[in-house]
Amino acid sequence: MSKTYKIGVIGGDGTGPEVVREGIKVIKAVEGLEGFKCEFVDFDLGGERYMKTGETLPDSVIEDLKKVDAIYLGAIGHPDVKPGILEKGILLKARFSLDQYINLRPVVLYEGVETPLKDKGPEDINFTVVRENTEGLYCGAGGFLKKGTPDEVAIQESINSRQGVERCIRYAFEVARQRDKEKKVTLCGKTNVLTFAHDLWERTFNEVAEEYSDIKTDYAHVDATCMWMVKNPEWFDVIVTDNMFGDIITDLGAMIQGGMGIAAGGNINPQGVSMFEPIGGSAPKYTGQNVINPLAAICAGGMMLDILGEKTAADRIENAVKKVVAEKIKSLSAGKMGYGTKEVGDLVAELAVDGVKV
Ligand code: IPM
Ligand code: MN
Repeated sequence: MSKTYKIGVIGGDGTGPEVVREGIKVIKAVEGLEGFKCEFVDFDLGGERYMKTGETLPDSVIEDLKKVDAIYLGAIGHPDVKPGILEKGILLKARFSLDQYINLRPVVLYEGVETPLKDKGPEDINFTVVRENTEGLYCGAGGFLKKGTPDEVAIQESINSRQGVERCIRYAFEVARQRDKEKKVTLCGKTNVLTFAHDLWERTFNEVAEEYSDIKTDYAHVDATCMWMVKNPEWFDVIVTDNMFGDIITDLGAMIQGGMGIAAGGNINPQGVSMFEPIGGSAPKYTGQNVINPLAAICAGGMMLDILGEKTAADRIENAVKKVVAEKIKSLSAGKMGYGTKEVGDLVAELAVDGVKV
């Protein structure tokens, strides 16, 4: 009997549902060939539900999400909802309550994709960022004193636990071991200023590194990391960093790999339920027009299969995406692809079935 995975689908807001639909199309096209099956279960979450019911991600839904094998997310963010409510109430709540402590963001420039970096190509831009995903400045620790008065004080604390830091760093070393590059992990921090939090990161990094004598180590301050990502991205193999720095450097990463049209990420709990998403937002102005680029969502779907253990299915999808960007679509930008959203999904599905090699 073939394996069946139960996938929770959160299409979400704006163009989220349309891009995820293409990802599901591609997965459905390859599953039979690879001897597994996915059962997709829709979860109605996002701005519309919030405006109707005041609910973001109720605890009962969290309980349901704990029962699926993986979650496939489109986008969260609605123009009529105050910024922060849905992001915190849905995206961050899911990451925290499902303890998805890794945010895995590959930065890979595919052949045929334009990068804003002059004189850099696919051989230069190929690294992965392992971002801590449940601690740091994202914990919501802090508060106001004398709010709204001239004496107001606002405090927002970065929480870094030894255990949280260690499991993230350990994951990064494992990723480096599996990748076919230099076998190097770079710690990205700010040890010259964050002399408590990043002292813990640095000490933990050095201790964990002792267990991985086959992996090289390096360190770069976050500001220098941004500089090197632009100037010498080829220096990186795996970068490990805290939640806030990871958020910032992965947007830079997405840009050097060709933009939000192609950048995918995984919120991973290696022992639990992980959630995969295109990094870009809900792009509400393009909703329903069949112009948005679904490739980032398709890549997130491929990543989901990879983490579920369906490596050859994930490879089929990645190769098909590579072929589509190299030979088919004109641009990764919405409305400029030379194809519609659905047609790009069809192309990837067809090529993935053919099993193109690139
Ligand atoms: C991301 C996003 C989120 C984050 C926002 C929407 C809360 O920017 O996934 O990178 O900051 O983590
Ligand atoms: Mn971000």
